[in-house]
Amino acid sequence: MKREKFSSSLAVFLATLGSAIGLGNIWRFPYVTGMNGGGAFLFVYLFCVLLVGIPVMISEFFIGRKTRSNPVIAFEKLGGRKWSIVGYMGIIASLLIMFFYSAVAGWVYSYTFKSLMGKFNGATLESSKDIFINTITNPKGVILWQLTALLVVAIILTMGVKGGIERATKILMPVLFVLILICDIRALTLENSLEGIKFLFAVDFSKLKSSSILTALGLSFFKLSLGVGAMITYASYFTDDDNLMSTSLKVALSDTLISLLAGIAIFPTVFAFKMEPSYGPGLLFITIPLIFSKLPFGNVLLFMFFLLTSIAATTAMLSLVEVPVAYLMEVKKIGRIKSVLMVTCIIALFGSLAALSVEGNVLSNVKLLGKSVFDIFDYLSSNILLPLGGILISAFVGYFVRREEVIIEITNKMRIKNVNPLKIYLLVLKYATPILIGIIFINSIF
Ligand code: PFF
Repeated sequence: MKREKFSSSLAVFLATLGSAIGLGNIWRFPYVTGMNGGGAFLFVYLFCVLLVGIPVMISEFFIGRKTRSNPVIAFEKLGGRKWSIVGYMGIIASLLIMFFYSAVAGWVYSYTFKSLMGKFNGATLESSKDIFINTITNPKGVILWQLTALLVVAIILTMGVKGGIERATKILMPVLFVLILICDIRALTLENSLEGIKFLFAVDFSKLKSSSILTALGLSFFKLSLGVGAMITYASYFTDDDNLMSTSLKVALSDTLISLLAGIAIFPTVFAFKMEPSYGPGLLFITIPLIFSKLPFGNVLLFMFFLLTSIAATTAMLSLVEVPVAYLMEVKKIGRIKSVLMVTCIIALFGSLAALSVEGNVLSNVKLLGKSVFDIFDYLSSNILLPLGGILISAFVGYFVRREEVIIEITNKMRIKNVNPLKIYLLVLKYATPILIGIIFINSIF
């Protein structure tokens, strides 16, 4: 069976960016930035992206394109049998993330539908809260919407790398960008919009705590889809002549830009209505519907906002699900459609447990070490497997792969003569990246 590839550098960029852009940009990044000193935090975040995010991303790109294999075989080819365990860890991490991520994606899908149906017309704080609680505690509803989100992802993936992932991201990424710009223009033309901009951008070093650095590191990792083999898998489909260094830089910067644009759509509106900027579910599912519905044409705006959030979640899930799919296809020799079906069923099974374990839903009493099923999946993936994967990936490329091999893969295919930037990257990868991630890892555990 011939392995598929993306058809151009643009396709490579859009698919990879599609993986990076997700729920993280909309419900986590803007708020975390505002709370940790705005511009000061951005500075720290960009520093983490440069010292940790980009080196790990280039390493994943190298591993994937060099071996043109799924993460398990990729590590085996480059480092021998024992390293394939890092690939298996990636598969488990991507599944764990999917279990809770698809639950939230289901809520977002249901909100897109609800806003289209005008459910938030004349919303009050009370009604907005009620709708949210009803959405996440209705067992049939959460499962139905989670399955819908999974079905959309599955259909795209059965169409393959070019016909599915490439085609979908080529259409959806520009749509997402236009929708976010429309929301931004509306937000910036509101009275008082400056307050929100100040919250997001004003440089306030006094709000920067030592924990902000840890937050920034963890955020950059999740944001850039690192440590779970998603970037390895996508890079195994990259074109031969794609410039890996510039792709990683472009993806990291564009992803940050989209997070900031999301913040610009959200906070000026929040402050214009003199609301408190809140976090996560409260911000996305209660505050936003409430305030958007108060604007002229608020319904349309709200629909556009949730549509763009659905798009972001969907393109991120494509890359998460493709990790186990690529493994089943190449190692177990199962066809694409069957592989997608199998992985989707596993995610639907465990994912519905996560969705049903949310506060107020039927399984909310099931606790393990004081955590709900949802939180356990989140904790194991974000706090343990992701950083561990990052340390192992950077240490692997930094210490166990021959330097020449890395230099040849990354520069020679592009016929790049000046290898100095790459040499700097290799130094960072060897001496800074694993240590920095090690610090977050130890800190997050204790
Ligand atoms: N980067 C995505 C987000 O910010 O929402 C989440 C994600 C996607 C994490 C793919 C990991 C991954 F492999």
